[in-house]
Amino acid sequence: MKILSIETSCDDTSVALIEGNGDNVTLLKEAHASQIDVHKIYGGIVPEVAARKHTEVMSLLLAEVFEKQNPPDAIAVTAGPGLLTSLLVGVETAKTLSSLTNIPLIRTNHMEGHIYANWIEQEHDIQFPALALIVSGGHTELVLMSSHTTYKKIGETVDDAAGEAFDKVGKFIGLTYPGGPKISKHAEQGNPDTIKLPRPMIDSDNLNFSFSGLKTAAKLYIEKNPDLNIADFSASLEQAIVDVLVSKTLRAIAEHNPKTVVLGGGVAANKKLRATLTEKIDPLPETTFIAPHIPYCMDNAAMIGSAAYFKAQKDGYTDWKDITADPVWELPK
Ligand SMILES: Nc1ncnc2c1ncn2[C@@H]1O[C@H](COP(=O)(O)OP(=O)(O)OP(=O)(O)O)[C@@H](O)[C@H]1O
Ligand SMILES: [Mg+2]
Repeated sequence: MKILSIETSCDDTSVALIEGNGDNVTLLKEAHASQIDVHKIYGGIVPEVAARKHTEVMSLLLAEVFEKQNPPDAIAVTAGPGLLTSLLVGVETAKTLSSLTNIPLIRTNHMEGHIYANWIEQEHDIQFPALALIVSGGHTELVLMSSHTTYKKIGETVDDAAGEAFDKVGKFIGLTYPGGPKISKHAEQGNPDTIKLPRPMIDSDNLNFSFSGLKTAAKLYIEKNPDLNIADFSASLEQAIVDVLVSKTLRAIAEHNPKTVVLGGGVAANKKLRATLTEKIDPLPETTFIAPHIPYCMDNAAMIGSAAYFKAQKDGYTDWKDITADPVWELPK
């Protein structure tokens, strides 16, 4: 089955053509436009600018991917969560295409896309129940899946997301947006034991996260130590975030006994997080760990097509007349 997918939830415009076969997804074509150079001038995403930029490039990207002579079996689009004005560009494009071609539509959640990045172009043996750790710019969640596309959120952040903590602290030390990958790069040269930063909620008796206190502690440290060693500071911050994420994931494994743990979201590209999860989960006799290939961690349309392929197996289509964008569409609890 071939699916044309569209992702515009934040600042990346992405269109892909994927093919699903059995339990695997292959990427056939992809066209992508990043807006980072525009938004980094402002230190974060400006919604109005993001929507305008999506609109400018959408038809060009579609023309690269859509094959008129060989149309896809379905069209998938991210309908939420995300910035409303950004989402609307993708949703209205998908509706227009579907109404003109009669190709059925699959309304896809951005977070299920991050989860289904794990099925793209990789040898895997993902089995259910599965546990997903999603760590991105706007979300930090633990989601239990009893079968394909069946979700139960069992943990989430009570304030900032992990990616947001990386980005905001990055801004405090003068790094351009997004700070996450830059902090991670500096951390490779640093000693994570140099600066003692808090691990909020690490011992709390639940699966929730909090990163706001860590962000404030990091800010105070920067103010008191203007000549800090950026590598040691970055390594210490990264270690604090990774410690909390790994500790809560291990707690969730102990409580729910998943057969597979999958990782997703932009922060899933972090090498220390991937290595620590591998190191802790590999020795467990009944649980395996898998992470998406790095290009599928960041926002991309292939992951939306991947999730849509598995939704299609369960008849998860929506009539184009009924599709709306939902900026706060969360996975069920
Ligand atoms: N190597 C890395 N280490 C740490 N953080 C990283 C790394 N690479 C990317 N990130 C972070 O990933 C985030 C971007 O991820 P993503 O694109 O999935 O977020 P988003 O789509 O804006 O948010 P959401 O998916 O919650 O809607 C940013 O916060 C960025 O700093
Ligand atoms: Mg994302």
